[in-house]
Amino acid sequence: MTGIYPLTRLRRTRASAWSRNLHRETVLTPADLIWPLFVTEGTGVEEPIASLPGVSRWSVDLIVARAKEAVALGIPCLALFPNTQPDRRSEDGKEALNPDNLMCRAIRAIKQACGDDIGVLTDVALDPYTSHGQDGLVDAAGYVLNDATVEVLVGQSLNQAAAGADVIAPSDMMDGRISAIREALESSGHPNVQIMSYAAKYASAFYGPFRDAVGSRGLLKGDKKTYQMDPANAEEALREVELDLAEGADSVMVKPGLPYLDIVRRVKDAFEVPVFAYQVSGEYAMIEAAVAAGAGERDALVLETLMSFKRAGCSGVLTYHAAHAAKLLG
Ligand code: PBG
Repeated sequence: MTGIYPLTRLRRTRASAWSRNLHRETVLTPADLIWPLFVTEGTGVEEPIASLPGVSRWSVDLIVARAKEAVALGIPCLALFPNTQPDRRSEDGKEALNPDNLMCRAIRAIKQACGDDIGVLTDVALDPYTSHGQDGLVDAAGYVLNDATVEVLVGQSLNQAAAGADVIAPSDMMDGRISAIREALESSGHPNVQIMSYAAKYASAFYGPFRDAVGSRGLLKGDKKTYQMDPANAEEALREVELDLAEGADSVMVKPGLPYLDIVRRVKDAFEVPVFAYQVSGEYAMIEAAVAAGAGERDALVLETLMSFKRAGCSGVLTYHAAHAAKLLG
């Protein structure tokens, strides 16, 4: 301060819209978004998900319509999750290896309709296929077996790659799965299929509505704490990321999103690789609940939270608000 005047006024550049536009440090565009979609059996079927208001499961034909909508909105990538019919779920989740399972049919239909206009990212884990809702094979005591599960995940990845998946996204948190999947993709003629590793995935309370959407909530006994990370840990997340990169991951994901922005920033600073965040189902539901309660305005809440991921260092965000946000940004 000189006399009564501050020489430096940070408010000066904020005083008009043109200046705020000029000084903005972070940009958010539809190209930053990955749209998660739930697939279900049938034709012409839309099933709204009660715990995710505004989100539905779509049959394969309507998933193709969503894919075309995404292309028109400038969204570069979809993330697919199947709601497997109950009679196709089993103790060993072997439906994951069926070349005609719901996931593979959806991948083929989207690729046939949209080609390279959109990327298809596919979830690798067994929970949509197991009768117990765990992401892997369980022993008699209910413990999720690591190496036996990895073998199945490799088969599941090759099955999805053969159907046309562009990005394999293992969300299971087994040790060693990235190198096993990478080697299998290389030796099976899929050198350009990417791996986006769910590297730092936490045992979170924010996944409830997703488990409704894929039909595993009622089946799951217990929790996933023997493989998903403890929310108290950050250094361990860096070790997970380091390992997955060494094993051949092209990009890494932090999940959930907003409660773990510190992890996003630390990963970005430490490794300078493409980092993605998953704004998960419970986060989406919280925003919708806030809107329904009159506690905030949807468009502003959506754009502010998505911008925060970019500011924290993300290359992109998986969000159920993707189509809505792309419309606002387009
Ligand atoms: C399971 C998987 C989960 C999500 C994505 N893949 C749930 C879980 O680990 O139980 C959660 C996504 C969301 O909540 O939106 N492999």
